[in-house]
Amino acid sequence: MKSVICFGEALIDFLNTGKQEDGCLMLNNYRQYPGGAPANAAVAIAKLGGNAIFAGQVGNDIFGDFLNASMQAYHVDTKFLSRHSSAPTALAFVTLDQYGERSFSFYRQNSADVLFKQEQVKDEWFTQDTTFHFCSNTLTEPDIAHCTEYAVNKALDADAIVSFDVNLRHNLWPSEQADIDTVNNLVQHAHIIKFSLEEFNYLANDNPDDYLKFCLNSNCQLLIITDGANPIVYHTPNFSRSVQPPAITAIDTTAGGDGFIGGILFALSQFDHLSDVINNDSVLKKVIEFSAQCGAIAVSKSGAFPALATLDEVLPRLTAQQDSPSINQVPSLDAFLWS
Ligand SMILES: Nc1ncnc2c1ncn2[C@@H]1O[C@H](COP(=O)(O)OP(=O)(O)O)[C@@H](O)[C@H]1O
Ligand SMILES: [Mg+2]
Repeated sequence: MKSVICFGEALIDFLNTGKQEDGCLMLNNYRQYPGGAPANAAVAIAKLGGNAIFAGQVGNDIFGDFLNASMQAYHVDTKFLSRHSSAPTALAFVTLDQYGERSFSFYRQNSADVLFKQEQVKDEWFTQDTTFHFCSNTLTEPDIAHCTEYAVNKALDADAIVSFDVNLRHNLWPSEQADIDTVNNLVQHAHIIKFSLEEFNYLANDNPDDYLKFCLNSNCQLLIITDGANPIVYHTPNFSRSVQPPAITAIDTTAGGDGFIGGILFALSQFDHLSDVINNDSVLKKVIEFSAQCGAIAVSKSGAFPALATLDEVLPRLTAQQDSPSINQVPSLDAFLWS
């Protein structure tokens, strides 16, 4: 099984859990959850049974301790997690509306994750048996964007697979809008790219057909566009398909996309070569179905790490979903992928 290095920010999500009257004040309650898209993806992979390594930086503070311990609690290897001597851990306050949709308020100026330096990217991170996964929150400022590009190029030089979950958070960019050229520069490097439909349309700049060609013209082997409960559309250089996610009640959409991409990277880590999957229409469809269940399970519970799926949760649901499920028999992942 290949290992997956998830690079980027680990931060605290303070999730709004309701309100409480205190004298003449109405106070918000916030529960402290570990989060950050690459950290969530690492935990998603580890909870499914994969080899996940987190690479990034947190502060030398109580939140940094909490994030390190939380990732380790889910068996993520934190050997490439640095602690900054003075900069704090980033924080995000997350408010949910009545439909479970999130809005974010970030405290991330000069935080430890943004100050991660190119010199901290080590040769030992990359082998041909590694997948290097990153997101766009390490592109928001020039230094960390260059550092991310440097790491991606090192991964490519080592023949590692490069995965990019675009996962745009516009309010983390200085102009409050993600810079399309910066993001698309990295899109050109990656073998696996996941967009939400909204992200794809934003980066396509009103030209989705040309943008799709642009993406598939460089390194990309698998381009996936998710859209919540709506069909997942995916493209390889040779074909395009779609898969309908399972019907569930969304409780909290935090980490849906991270659970989904974690499912993809875990399933792909079972194969020696990405091409073994990309060129097999049937196996690739099963990988997407598996990942759709992982995403659906994550949004059906609150929080991120605790909500992410285990293999024991996913496999029975996949059996139930099949046209003629075999009674009392839950297949292994391998059996499902090749069924
Ligand atoms: N309401 C939902 N019902 C069923 N599955 C969902 C729902 N929301 C998310 N998922 C699953 O998680 C995947 C990723 O969710 P999505 O919201 O598109 O990503 P992101 O969090 O990156 O915006 C979906 O493709 C689907 O498999
Ligand atoms: Mg996302």
